[in-house]
Amino acid sequence: MFRPRRLRSNKIIRNMIAETAVNKDALVYPMFVVEGEGVKEEIGAMPGQFRFSIDELVKEVSGFESIGLKSVLLFGIPDHKDDMASAAYDKNGIVQRAVRELKKNFPNLYVITDVCLCEYMSHGHCGIVKGKDVDNDSSLKLLAKTAVSHAAAGADMVAPSDMMDGRVAAIREALDNAGYTNTPIMSYSAKFASAFYGPFRDAADSAPHFGDRKSYQMDVRNSREALHEVALDLEEGADIVMVKPGLAFLDILSKAAEISDVPLAVYNVSGEYSMVKAAAKMGYINEDAIIFETLTAFARAGANVIITYHAKEALERGIV
Ligand code: PBG
Repeated sequence: MFRPRRLRSNKIIRNMIAETAVNKDALVYPMFVVEGEGVKEEIGAMPGQFRFSIDELVKEVSGFESIGLKSVLLFGIPDHKDDMASAAYDKNGIVQRAVRELKKNFPNLYVITDVCLCEYMSHGHCGIVKGKDVDNDSSLKLLAKTAVSHAAAGADMVAPSDMMDGRVAAIREALDNAGYTNTPIMSYSAKFASAFYGPFRDAADSAPHFGDRKSYQMDVRNSREALHEVALDLEEGADIVMVKPGLAFLDILSKAAEISDVPLAVYNVSGEYSMVKAAAKMGYINEDAIIFETLTAFARAGANVIITYHAKEALERGIV
């Protein structure tokens, strides 16, 4: 009889034949930055995650090198919102100033910026609203401007999350024209219209004031379309493609890994994080084991880069 249990009998042999290890260098930590000073405000629905003013952000990040946390993904929450998202591409906007401060204090930190307009729009949509519609092509110009302003501030990589068609090409062209030919684009390629973003929208104050995001983010029922989105972004020149959310979309992640000839990222989003925290608080689960299993599943499914709110604690507590 063949007995698969033979190779499970002790930890040494289990570790020897383990097929997957989470690459610690591939963990990216999302962070929220707000105006003001001395602000470190816990996000209600995301225990352990905060909105930081720039000075507090610098304090927080100063502990990262010693735990081996090497990269952050920055989200800005501006004071001023309008219907052209003007604070998104202001050279003294919240993200632009945060990037400059971080790169000045931590030249070895790899700073990625989320490129989107929703946090900066008075209506909370990811593009320019005309009538009741989010207008694709006019939004591209603002997204491209935003990406260039992030690169100019010193961002190492830009990550468009808006889901407008053609934005990777538009951003690539704008970056190249401005001389940022070496700034990579990590595209949120297959980004689904997901209820798992709920806690994030509270955190970033970016919930749409009317309607929803279903006219631009993907329908959760579609897989073939997700691969088409990935293929389009590859064609447009994305350096890294992403699937988002993670856990409920591992099938998409695994299929994307098969067709992508560039590295693949996954975003373990706010709702996924909050569910773990809530269940752990109730004592229903073993939190660290759940985090290990979750991050490992992403690696096993084919993700190279794992964007996760668990990054800091996973490294601090030696979970992966
Ligand atoms: C901005 C953006 C969102 C997330 C990342 N970038 C929210 C949204 O699309 O509504 C979600 C991240 C998370 O839930 O952790 N467009």
